[in-house]
Amino acid sequence: MPEDRVNRRTRMRAIYNYFKRNLPFLKVVFRQYAQNNWNVRIRKSTRVIDPISAIFYITHRCNLECHYCTQKSPDVTSEELSTAKTIELLRRIRTELSSLYVTGGEPLVRPDVAEVLQAAHGMGFNIILHTNGTLLDRREEVLDSIHSLVISLDSMNESRFDRITKSPAGTTRHILENIVRYGRQMRQSRRPMTINCVINSDTVDDVYDVMEFCRENDFVFSCCTALNNDVTQYSLLDNPKYMALADHIVQSKREKRLRINGSAESLEYTLKLKKFNCYPTLFARVYPNGDVFYPCVPLKTVGGNLFETPSVKEIFARARKKLGDVPDCRRRCHLYSNITSHLYVHNFWNLAGEYK
Ligand SMILES: C[S@@+](CC[C@H](N)C(=O)[O-])C[C@H]1O[C@@H](n2cnc3c(N)ncnc32)[C@H](O)[C@@H]1O
Ligand code: SF4
Repeated sequence: MPEDRVNRRTRMRAIYNYFKRNLPFLKVVFRQYAQNNWNVRIRKSTRVIDPISAIFYITHRCNLECHYCTQKSPDVTSEELSTAKTIELLRRIRTELSSLYVTGGEPLVRPDVAEVLQAAHGMGFNIILHTNGTLLDRREEVLDSIHSLVISLDSMNESRFDRITKSPAGTTRHILENIVRYGRQMRQSRRPMTINCVINSDTVDDVYDVMEFCRENDFVFSCCTALNNDVTQYSLLDNPKYMALADHIVQSKREKRLRINGSAESLEYTLKLKKFNCYPTLFARVYPNGDVFYPCVPLKTVGGNLFETPSVKEIFARARKKLGDVPDCRRRCHLYSNITSHLYVHNFWNLAGEYK
């Protein structure tokens, strides 16, 4: 059989298997697409949309101190629950959602993280774990439960990244060793391994090497700019070196030079800091004690707690009545999840094209 026919057949089979595997999730996505078109775009009656995934901040504790980070204690605090209660919390989330993004703080500082992830896996969650990578060799059993791994890396320059994370010399070398070792394991089991690179004015030059590292190892490259106290740094737009990098990343995506997270359009929003509409309830942000933020973490307002109201959708509905609809804070925080929410509502097919 000619080679292109074989390739076409393999591709069709892959698409068929993807649909078969993800049918329940895809049903939810298409129902939401219809609802969002009607409620948000046509009737313009609300900006609160149903969640599609939970972002679970499993702990606020962290073993590093990245200078730009506002997601760790003591900046943020809430009670960390016992293993059994944490698993119960996930069970409540699972009644409505099947996608779980586990982050922190540093998830792997929690001694029971493997047990919690194993339970989440047993409930049928699709799990993405976001970690700084330092402790992976001590908790490698977490890999058994996850579908996708994200590790943070802003620079290949070891002394610079040690300074960014305010950690002892040798920490970045250790992170890199873990990335290569466990990245290979993820790849061998055909699960995505992503490097998340936060771009700041002092690391612009370093990002090219991080991209090359991803290309060589077949990792997915993901990026965003560093927020300053949860707010976008617009001064980057006046930095010619930064703007050249942003062009380079978007162009690399268009030319498929390496695997890059998001569509070329979403990268334009993320990196060129274009105006977008945020629909933060697309991702339910859940703190270790079960608090669910409404509408989002940067606005620092909690909508309810899953131990009092065991439904994320109900928490959003009640919070909307009490606190009002999602305010129009366009251009406030250019994070991947927020840009995704914009495209999810306004350019769904562009986003869907990423998963073809
Ligand atoms: C808060 S961390 C939690 C997970 C884990 N501790 C880690 O660093 O990968 C999740 C991601 O947020 C990024 N991040 C932290 N502070 C940020 C900021 N001010 N602006 C943009 N991204 C930030 C980190 O680099 C990391 O990739
Ligand atoms: S490792 Fe993650 S949680 Fe810890 S300080 Fe850095 S970005 Fe924040």
